[in-house]
Amino acid sequence: MPSTSTQSEIEQAAAILRSGGLVAFPTETVYGLGADASNPEAVAKIFAAKGRPQNHPLIVHVADMDQLSLWAARIPPPARKLAENFWPGPLTLILQRAAGVPDCVTGGQDTVGLRIPGHPVALELLKAFTGEAGGRRYSGIAAPSANKFGRVSPTTAEHARAELGDALDAVLEGGECEIGIESTIIDLSRGRAVLLRPGQITPARIAAVLGEEVEAADDAAPRVPGALDAHYAPRTPLHLVAAAELPAKLAELRGKKIAVLARAEAPSGLKDVYWQEAHRAVAGYAHELYASLRRLDELGCDVLLVEAPPDVPGWQGVNDRLKRAASK
Ligand code: TXA
Ligand code: MG
Repeated sequence: MPSTSTQSEIEQAAAILRSGGLVAFPTETVYGLGADASNPEAVAKIFAAKGRPQNHPLIVHVADMDQLSLWAARIPPPARKLAENFWPGPLTLILQRAAGVPDCVTGGQDTVGLRIPGHPVALELLKAFTGEAGGRRYSGIAAPSANKFGRVSPTTAEHARAELGDALDAVLEGGECEIGIESTIIDLSRGRAVLLRPGQITPARIAAVLGEEVEAADDAAPRVPGALDAHYAPRTPLHLVAAAELPAKLAELRGKKIAVLARAEAPSGLKDVYWQEAHRAVAGYAHELYASLRRLDELGCDVLLVEAPPDVPGWQGVNDRLKRAASK
């Protein structure tokens, strides 16, 4: 188990960010690829390292609520309520952007994505980074997941290094990400709450706090590349298979080298099948998901079969990622 970065390593990383460098750092969801959100040249390095299209907006991570007004034009009451209930934590809010927020961060849109992450290393990094120095103000770290565009997100520092290696000026250690899938994204920029990306915090929990339903995204919703059909994808072709259909699928593929990720135990007598048993409960499943996909991908199988988890609200975040990982 890798140890957590020390305070002085975190302070060094903050100095690297202030001088325009790229730092991979742990959050409670996945590892982020961070740059000073106020510095367009630094932000440009994120897009270059990931191979990500320029018009895709980034999430700005902030240290505390005081920083929000530098990024959002206003903080409507529902945003304040959600922030109070879920931050620091795995929730991103889309709000109207403040004047002066660089276009490279918002993808040229009039909104900005914001969150306070719930990981001690991320929070210490943000604290060390935030403040004024040399006539400049540092207040937000732009950070997408620290993977190549369209690929599986990293949930350990090692994964981030494997994805982006040389492009990184520093990597902070924080162990395995507890949650394992990206934050829930809620758009509040148009007066009602709209779910743009499902995650561990469910629409039901958000609706309970707001006292109003959360709507599904429509065509007018802001762009979310995590919502492209193909995303989070391993290299091995991935098929989502209903539990009841798994035996027939295995029979159909006999002779091929097959990897399976299933919540069920492996049946006896399978040949040329690498079977990985997944957690039955959603929290454990999500925590392990991306590491499992990476491990299974490295086996170089012909096909990766994933037994479809239950189609119930608590699994929406996981099912969303699996559906996109299968859509290549
Ligand atoms: O859990 C997470 O959110 C992680 C950690 C590192 O914080 N970050 C993450 O970033 O998943 P990324 O870039 O891989 O996904 C961010 C998503 C994208 O789908 C992006 O389109 C959406 O947030 N987003 C950011 N700003 C937005 C905006 N102004 N309007 C609509 N969507 C936005
Ligand atoms: Mg991502």
